[in-house]
Amino acid sequence: MSARSSLLAVEAIDVHYGHRRSRTQVLDRVSLHVEPGEIVGLIGESGSGKTTVARAILGLVGVSSGGISVDGEPVTARSRAQQRRLRRRGVVQYVFQDPLRSLDGDWTVGDSIAEPLRIRGGLSRAEVTERVRAYAERSKVALELLERYPAELSGGQRQRVAIARALITEPRLLLLDEPVSALDAATRVRIIEALTELRAEGIGMLYISHDLGSVAGVSDRTVVLRQGRVVESGPTRQVVTAPEHPYTRLLVGSAPLLSGQSLTREERDELRAALAG
Ligand SMILES: Nc1ncnc2c1ncn2[C@@H]1O[C@H](COP(=O)(O)OP(=O)(O)OP(=O)(O)O)[C@@H](O)[C@H]1O
Ligand SMILES: [Mg+2]
Repeated sequence: MSARSSLLAVEAIDVHYGHRRSRTQVLDRVSLHVEPGEIVGLIGESGSGKTTVARAILGLVGVSSGGISVDGEPVTARSRAQQRRLRRRGVVQYVFQDPLRSLDGDWTVGDSIAEPLRIRGGLSRAEVTERVRAYAERSKVALELLERYPAELSGGQRQRVAIARALITEPRLLLLDEPVSALDAATRVRIIEALTELRAEGIGMLYISHDLGSVAGVSDRTVVLRQGRVVESGPTRQVVTAPEHPYTRLLVGSAPLLSGQSLTREERDELRAALAG
């Protein structure tokens, strides 16, 4: 083991839902790591446990064994109050699968983007407003949208608002749950470009999707989850070109753009362009 700890280390976690008779195991010894400036794809079919991994990292669901640490600090060993404090610091932020869940319908877009800053405290009203405008621009949210309510936005606009909200505390780790799945091709490309810029700044990302094609275009490493277990993980190129597990082979085979491809940087760019339609 190196002395340097990972930005995110998920070590052999088990997660159960329900109580007593209805108790079912959803994650079984799941491990994964994210380093600064790295995008790690987490893929698997619907119900395989991807969102549960994100919820465990955020401390929203408890683990029954194993551990999670962010920047060397244990998340899972903490009390609820400590976990809340960690969330408040905004080191880890997330964009939920359904952006309506990250945004309060009764709040304007501007207030939603500002919320993580207000929770953390320490800034004046004017400073908050300034930061909101800066991060809206950065996430390609038009400033006139800041006065609107989430219901008055398109799906793509909502997703960009959710990203602005996640970035405003300058997190070191970003959890993205199906960030582009619901979007049209052009919006998808803009969001993927924004994520690639963030990676260059050293932010680590866990990029969750059921679609290997969309993950392969952006991720440095890929982790394949099946029925709550990691069946394969490695550099994306290796996972895509030489999948070892039959399930990964199936995923690669059913992503037509990927099968038989050896991904160089140029090819990855091409793939990204192709995915954009
Ligand atoms: N709060 C909950 N209580 C009980 N079971 C749950 C709960 N949330 C999720 N599950 C179950 O846990 C399993 C994993 O769910 P999870 O949401 O992590 O899957 P997923 O991989 O994100 O799927 P999708 O691609 O459809 O979003 C599923 O069988 C789901 O029904
Ligand atoms: Mg999910």
